[in-house]
Amino acid sequence: MTSNLTEAGAAGDLVITGGTVYTPDGPRIVDVHVLDGVITSLEEKRRSPVGANVVDARGMYVLPGAIDVHVHSRDPGFPEKEDFGTLTSAAAAGGVTTVIDMPNTVPGVDAGGVLEAKAALARSKARVDFGLWGLVRSSTTVEQLEGLAQAGAIGFKAYLGYAFSLSRKQVLYTPDTEDPDLEAPPDYGTLLRLAPVVAGLGLPLVIHAEDPGILAAFRRPLESYADVLASRPAEAEAVAISAGAAIADSFGTRLHIAHLSSALGLMAAEAAIRDGSRVSLETCPQYLLLTDQDFNRLGTRMKMFPPVRTAADRDALVDALARGAIKVVATDHAPHTDEEKGRPLDQAPAGSPGVQTLYLSCLELAKRLGDVWKAPRWVSEGPAALIGLHESKGQISPGFDADLVIVDPRRGTTFRPAIMRSRQRHGALEGMRSSFSIAEVYVRGRLVTHAGRKVGRPVGRMVPADR
Ligand code: NCD
Ligand code: ZN
Repeated sequence: MTSNLTEAGAAGDLVITGGTVYTPDGPRIVDVHVLDGVITSLEEKRRSPVGANVVDARGMYVLPGAIDVHVHSRDPGFPEKEDFGTLTSAAAAGGVTTVIDMPNTVPGVDAGGVLEAKAALARSKARVDFGLWGLVRSSTTVEQLEGLAQAGAIGFKAYLGYAFSLSRKQVLYTPDTEDPDLEAPPDYGTLLRLAPVVAGLGLPLVIHAEDPGILAAFRRPLESYADVLASRPAEAEAVAISAGAAIADSFGTRLHIAHLSSALGLMAAEAAIRDGSRVSLETCPQYLLLTDQDFNRLGTRMKMFPPVRTAADRDALVDALARGAIKVVATDHAPHTDEEKGRPLDQAPAGSPGVQTLYLSCLELAKRLGDVWKAPRWVSEGPAALIGLHESKGQISPGFDADLVIVDPRRGTTFRPAIMRSRQRHGALEGMRSSFSIAEVYVRGRLVTHAGRKVGRPVGRMVPADR
């Protein structure tokens, strides 16, 4: 494959020729014409592209860039874990052309001004496009939600059961209910109070769906992976989903379930959807590819909340994805330092990086399910619909952003630490192999990754605000 690198970073003409392109009509061998960052046409017959940057993609797949709706940039707040530069370098290397960042950065993104400051910071470093979720606290007011929406929030995230440190302005995962510095976590009352406002703003409400009462009742020292599973039972997920859906239903609020991890949670969600709830489901590669058995090999790299569960849970999630009941695969990219992840199971923070391996792991899973073209639906089309970008991203069609990923189906990739661009190079999928590799990645027509290397300056814009 050849690419005119002198044009790298420019947003003029671009033609990607001869590749098998994932189009709304299915895979087709067509040339993709791009002008000023936007796809202008898909052409069967090759017109001689004069003056354009021509990329020969024969033998390659040309896919829409992935939109990872669940990442934790740690920026601002924890630069030792990650920042917007390293996050989006990893994203660009993996074919993720848009990331939507969670609001548990510091200060927590609980008001319009905080979101604007975070957006300014991200714009200066982002190598791919980005969007920002707003934070729901138990004290969140209607005005705060409106301010967040006005500042360009994609929607709102409520971490059920996670307290907020008033002095540190930070979401905390292991709340000590006695501490006067801790504001009570958002609960179902918070959701009921704010769901009509969220519905009125027309944005999705995302929940971290683990019932706090169940978690509190089953809390225990974590000495083994069995303790992890026992302390966060699947019933906690199912109960939170049913309760969330019941509340959202009354107002027509769109409820999005982050990182679905269990067969029971899936059953609860599907029951709600059958009854007419506007519930959308997201799961992550780790829940689709790993089981509790992998803990022996991975140790705390696999510690995350909710936990990776049993083979039966994994199989139910894969089946739901194959059936189209789960429409979004995101990563919950949640890096921590080596020192933190090296602590004993009980003290190591939960979370694993994953943004760079989203596309390649989904292509591999889709291939195993007999249809590699399912992968762009899970990582691109489904997410674009969730966040209201289905008219500009997530498809290779005229008028859409030229967020394009050229994938080599003849060269595999092993997920080795050496190729990872995140500040945390060790993740739960370490050592896995995909039959595919990422050859080139374009964000709105600008080359951002070539042969695994980053190219050009940060070009990321905020969605939908900067359009
Ligand atoms: C996330 C983090 O570290 O921010 N951790 C995790 O285990 N998933 C928080 C979250 O997404 O719940
Ligand atoms: Zn998360």
